[in-house]
Amino acid sequence: MFDLTPHNTFALRAMARDGLEIRSKADLDRLPGGPYLVLGGGSDVLLLEDFSGTALLCRIGGMETEELRDGGVRVRLGGGVPLDGAIAELGRQGIHGLENLSLIPGLVGAAPIQNVGAYGLEIGELIERVEARDLLTGEDLSLSAQECGFSYRDSALRHWEGALMVTAVTLRLSRRFSPCLAHRALEGRDFADARSLRDFIIGIRSRKLPDCRKVGNAGSFFRNPFVSWQKAEELRELCPGIPCYPVPDPTLCKVPAGWLIEAAGMRGVRRGAVGTWPQQALVLVNYGGASAHELMAFAEEVAEAVLMRFGVALEPEVRLFGAGGEMSWQSR
Ligand code: EPU
Repeated sequence: MFDLTPHNTFALRAMARDGLEIRSKADLDRLPGGPYLVLGGGSDVLLLEDFSGTALLCRIGGMETEELRDGGVRVRLGGGVPLDGAIAELGRQGIHGLENLSLIPGLVGAAPIQNVGAYGLEIGELIERVEARDLLTGEDLSLSAQECGFSYRDSALRHWEGALMVTAVTLRLSRRFSPCLAHRALEGRDFADARSLRDFIIGIRSRKLPDCRKVGNAGSFFRNPFVSWQKAEELRELCPGIPCYPVPDPTLCKVPAGWLIEAAGMRGVRRGAVGTWPQQALVLVNYGGASAHELMAFAEEVAEAVLMRFGVALEPEVRLFGAGGEMSWQSR
């Protein structure tokens, strides 16, 4: 048996039948039979029960850079590289573009699966290519950004049949610091250099979000929902000032789930060992010793409160895993 407790940032107690650290693609050539649970930093998963197969922990390292004629830099990172460590190292080397994603926990390989994003930037915008092993067919894939089908907290990789392990991600970055300041928190601000932007982002995140080394959590528990503009108008009447962000589909807009959860009276609520974080209601936390059952019951209570008050259905952003693999929120 293999203990998954230290490998999920919610710090839920769970076991797998077996566990393996994957340090190179060659390690993937000699896997035992499935099912497989692919884990990066375990920072976006909720383990509902013990896993009946093998947990694969991606530890493939490496950072290669290629200077391009136009001042661009192509950077290929191993799937097991910690994302924030890579951002810090790239900054030291004078390579820019990822600063807005500073302090996001987890590994590079997980980033394209969820298309992680923060402060106006989604990693998919900078990805050129994702290399992955299809664990069902044994095939090595090299997918262009288009083939990855990135959208808000989603990609085609997330819905791949069978499990995928992302072995490397190639990004298009730059020697030039041209900050992305579109997010409300950054608008109108001036950053002298990349280091000051990174420090600013680290400051906001540290104030709002719990440190998963101290309090179990997986960042935002729910996605920000997409609603029709008509629904957004209704919400604006109930919650004056609520922001509505445009999305690729012009008939819809994105509203902040954290705002709705707070307005439904659920910010900072605690039920035993679980609760919503007082500084950010979208983050569910395990104060210590919570079970997956308690967390799920609380998540349902939060979603129900928002549904009752605003008629908006929340869907988790974290991925739910049961004994046999990934489970949907609907089939829980
Ligand atoms: N808000 C409240 N009450 C709350 C939380 C938020 O009123 O308890 C309001 C805020 O005042 C703000 C709006 O809701 O007007 C949005 O809040 P925030 O800027 O904190 O961002 P978010 O939409 O809650 C998203 C991402 C975060 C990312 C931030 C910053 C999702 C699911 N979450 O959160 O990503 O760091 O934007 O860009 O899209 C994650 O995915 O795990 C994550 C932390």
